[in-house]
Amino acid sequence: MPALKIPESVPFQIDPMRWEDITEVMEIERRAFSMPWPIRAYEQEILRNPNAHYLVLRPREVRAAVPALPPQRLPILGYGGFWLVPDEAHVSTIAIDAPWRGRGLGELMFLALVEEAIALGANLITLEVRASNFVAQNLYRKFGLEITGRRPRYYRDNNEDALLMTVEGVRSPAYRERLEALKAQLWARLRSAGPIPIHRSGAN
Ligand SMILES: CC(C)(COP(=O)(O)OP(=O)(O)OC[C@H]1O[C@@H](n2cnc3c(N)ncnc32)[C@H](O)[C@@H]1OP(=O)(O)O)[C@@H](O)C(=O)NCCC(=O)NCCS
Repeated sequence: MPALKIPESVPFQIDPMRWEDITEVMEIERRAFSMPWPIRAYEQEILRNPNAHYLVLRPREVRAAVPALPPQRLPILGYGGFWLVPDEAHVSTIAIDAPWRGRGLGELMFLALVEEAIALGANLITLEVRASNFVAQNLYRKFGLEITGRRPRYYRDNNEDALLMTVEGVRSPAYRERLEALKAQLWARLRSAGPIPIHRSGAN
């Protein structure tokens, strides 16, 4: 059961990533990243890495394009994960499928990762992000992460630098307050989303 408690009125849910989710996750992975992880990396993460924690994001309900259709499986809209060693959470990936971006779902996913990491004992959250990925950097800044380093030519596809972003003290009352304020805004934003329309079988 993920640590983040989402109010019933918010039409999205967070679940642990399971091996049965891998086909959908890989479809999003290939669309979202220029260097997608191979399926065996996820196999290792989900089935064998005790330090790895992966979550998926789904709508609570879907609206079929043809009302007479039987109930649909809830599609995965995004996912994310981190490694925890020992009180440092290193966010290894986060993605929202392109049609669903810009609606607060990346923020919901990141919030779920942060809450999960804190519940498991993290005091620091860190990650690498492409120097050109301003969208992701803005998202991380909302959660207090700041640039703490640079890894030159980290990404092999285009020799782009990675920025290291970090936030410390996520167990402090001040950080808890920050999270609660973000949550209140996010719930209000997501409540207006309504059911997710489904165009193809099981996916958007
Ligand atoms: C990064 C990603 C997960 C963000 O998800 P998203 O659902 O689009 O983001 P949200 O709608 O929740 O926005 C959260 C914050 O991100 C930033 N952001 C989102 N879209 C943005 C845009 N077009 N321009 C600038 N900042 C943006 C903002 O800070 C935003 O907060 P705000 O809505 O209060 O302004 C998504 O773009 C994605 O999957 N990208 C491809 C994979 C990737 O780059 N992953 C990160 C690897 S390090």
